[in-house]
Amino acid sequence: MKKSDSTHAKKLILKLLQEKPRGTRETLTHIAKQVIAQKKTLLALAQKQESPFYLIDEKHLQSDIQTFTKSFDAHLPGHEAYYAVKANYHPFILKKMVSEGLGLDVSSERELKLALAAGAKKILFSGPGKCEKELRLALEHADILTINMDSFEELHRLGKLTNQTKTHIRAGIRFFSSVHGAWSKFGIPLNQLKKFWTTTEKYPYIHLEGLHFHISLNLRSEKYSQVLRELAIYLEKSFPKNLREKIKFIDIGGGYYPDNVEGFYPWSDHYPWTLSGGHIKKLAHEYYGEKVIFKDKYFITRAEPQEEMAKKIGQTIEKHLKKLVNCIYYTEPGRILVNNSTYIIGTVMDVKDKVIITDIGINATGWEFGQHFYMPIINLTHPDTKEKEMRIYGSLCTPRDFWGYYIFAKKIQTGDTIVIPNQGAYKFTLAQTFIKEIPPTVII
Ligand SMILES: Cc1ncc(COP(=O)(O)O)c(C=O)c1O
Repeated sequence: MKKSDSTHAKKLILKLLQEKPRGTRETLTHIAKQVIAQKKTLLALAQKQESPFYLIDEKHLQSDIQTFTKSFDAHLPGHEAYYAVKANYHPFILKKMVSEGLGLDVSSERELKLALAAGAKKILFSGPGKCEKELRLALEHADILTINMDSFEELHRLGKLTNQTKTHIRAGIRFFSSVHGAWSKFGIPLNQLKKFWTTTEKYPYIHLEGLHFHISLNLRSEKYSQVLRELAIYLEKSFPKNLREKIKFIDIGGGYYPDNVEGFYPWSDHYPWTLSGGHIKKLAHEYYGEKVIFKDKYFITRAEPQEEMAKKIGQTIEKHLKKLVNCIYYTEPGRILVNNSTYIIGTVMDVKDKVIITDIGINATGWEFGQHFYMPIINLTHPDTKEKEMRIYGSLCTPRDFWGYYIFAKKIQTGDTIVIPNQGAYKFTLAQTFIKEIPPTVII
């Protein structure tokens, strides 16, 4: 770590201010057009339904699931997808995943119970700090469940339990590599895999069969490929052939980001959790009581198409791992499967100069996404493919209840129906009863 004197700090701040945003200067007019094309159906629904509500479009959901499974089935040997329940636990969504042949990836007792209620036929239990109660429930369902262990401590905890209950259980071990950054909270270092594997042999009921890693929020395939290359180097150098033959699966986790459906503002932080140059600029202006004006309104987040991502990951496996391990590959997609098929629909309650008050509180999405993420908002009653600059709020008693700065609308009047598309991932899951109830869900 470098000690920062003020000259060095100033140099770094200047460099940060000059950094180019990591998005493209496009628009999301195509999303507005998609929503406007459904105007008749959506307005008819809004007439019948108490406002606001989430809307899940089943056909859209199905098509997104199939796009993913087709892409990854084509390129990853023996591919099996396990939907990450944390992205959206709605029972309809879980049942849909099961009926489409996916397994479910759970991270708690609560999620495990939801997965069982949805009739899951294959379950992965991943996540750090699993408690005894959770492990016991997992063991009760050992016929359909694999535990992705997170540490040596967890191995001993599970080993003690399986010795007591004499339950055989399939397991994997999560590891992190040099590219894991914030995600090295999870799992064990890559170079301890051999030690972990041999330690597990002390526990006769734990059948260690796989390796697991996960990194969130990937716009491209590079990180998956980097981890797989590092894994291959380690397996070749430090993991004996007789142990390699015991590896039945490699689980490459989730993290596949949807393309071209949302964006961010010039001041938004780079996900995850690093401040952007724009943020520093805004902070400085506002600290001194000035309004900051940016040249660009927003940037659009572009991601590699799924087929391309799967192909590149498949090529890495073919080149580096196939000669070392003869196994199948799991994925744990969450966001990419459920994001785009859910809309939030509500009503304009008030229009004040440049301010719109809707009845959709951000308690429906849990966090203050609107401050940082550019999400297209469409006025279905008076739609347009061009945006008006307005500030769009919800009706919670806090200025943080904010949705965005732009709305696709010809005009805006009280009673108009507002649609915010692409709200299916990590929104319903984070929803809370702050001031208002969590809105109901309608399925079409
Ligand atoms: C272990 C694990 N698998 C899968 C996922 C799903 O990630 P995503 O929704 O970004 O695909 C997560 C999300 O944090 C995770 O922690």
